[in-house]
Amino acid sequence: IRLALLSGGRSGEHEVSRRSAASILAHLDREAYQVTEVLIGRDGRWQVDGRPVPLDEALRALRDQDVVFPALHGPYGEDGTVQAMLGWLGVPYVGNEVFASAAGMDKAVTKKLLAADGLRVADGVTLGAAEELTPATRHRLGLPVFVKPARAGSSIGVSKVERWDRLPAALRLARGVDRKVLVERAVVGREVDVAVLQHPDGRVEAGPPLEIKVASGGFFDYDAKYGGNAVFQIPAALDDATTRRLRDRAVRAFHALGCRGLLRVDFFLPEPDDGGEPVVNEVNTFPGMTAESQYPQIWQRSGIAFAELLDILIAGALA
Ligand code: DAL
Ligand code: MG
Repeated sequence: IRLALLSGGRSGEHEVSRRSAASILAHLDREAYQVTEVLIGRDGRWQVDGRPVPLDEALRALRDQDVVFPALHGPYGEDGTVQAMLGWLGVPYVGNEVFASAAGMDKAVTKKLLAADGLRVADGVTLGAAEELTPATRHRLGLPVFVKPARAGSSIGVSKVERWDRLPAALRLARGVDRKVLVERAVVGREVDVAVLQHPDGRVEAGPPLEIKVASGGFFDYDAKYGGNAVFQIPAALDDATTRRLRDRAVRAFHALGCRGLLRVDFFLPEPDDGGEPVVNEVNTFPGMTAESQYPQIWQRSGIAFAELLDILIAGALA
């Protein structure tokens, strides 16, 4: 099978994508797949197997494959733009299609779609470029709040605000990444991720919940994600009912967004006296696949080795 592994990209997660691609490459069965490496530079220039090429040549290289594996995170990669291009070229590709990618990239849109399907999301507001938080909204949300760019990943541009006088700086940081930002009430509770995988026959499965334990004081930010400062517990120590509920909600999120192939759904588990319904924090339509990342580790723990996981995802694209 001729496979192009597409990585890099123009987003702030360029480096993360390259690390995801490196770990995918290390685990792909090289007897089964003849791999072409296609790299998109931070500047949007393309390379095929290490050789700089003009765009039309890169597109021909992609079109000539049996399947493309877009290992891209963030805007211009995980947001439907590249998926639309691959669809237009007529080449099968791994993972989420245009709609789910676009919807899943935008945290505000994701929350609307999930809430419309009865899933619980954090209270918050979306601010446009010139909008400020009204006193009434400050009062409603309370402190602390999280300020996030609507369309980004790996916590780039995200800050936790504990005092209102820190809000302007947090908004500036987030607006440096996206003109659309979210201000959300911080959910107090455990942070748990659930991986969803679709098998080539269409069956959708949720893996064992993973709990993220971050060193005290911080949140699961870029450094914690890739600097080895977080500890994962798989499966999370949860009662059966909570585990079942998390898996059910993750599969519901997968369907609510019209996903294909894979999704990682990141939850907060509020204190039990809060009804026990998990709060969806966000989704990742192409979750990190680096050596430190949750998604491959979750499947590994449930008996699906990384190489087999890749086979499943690729077979799904070709089904
Ligand atoms: N956006 C990063 C890659 C993740 O969520 O894993
Ligand atoms: Mg993310």
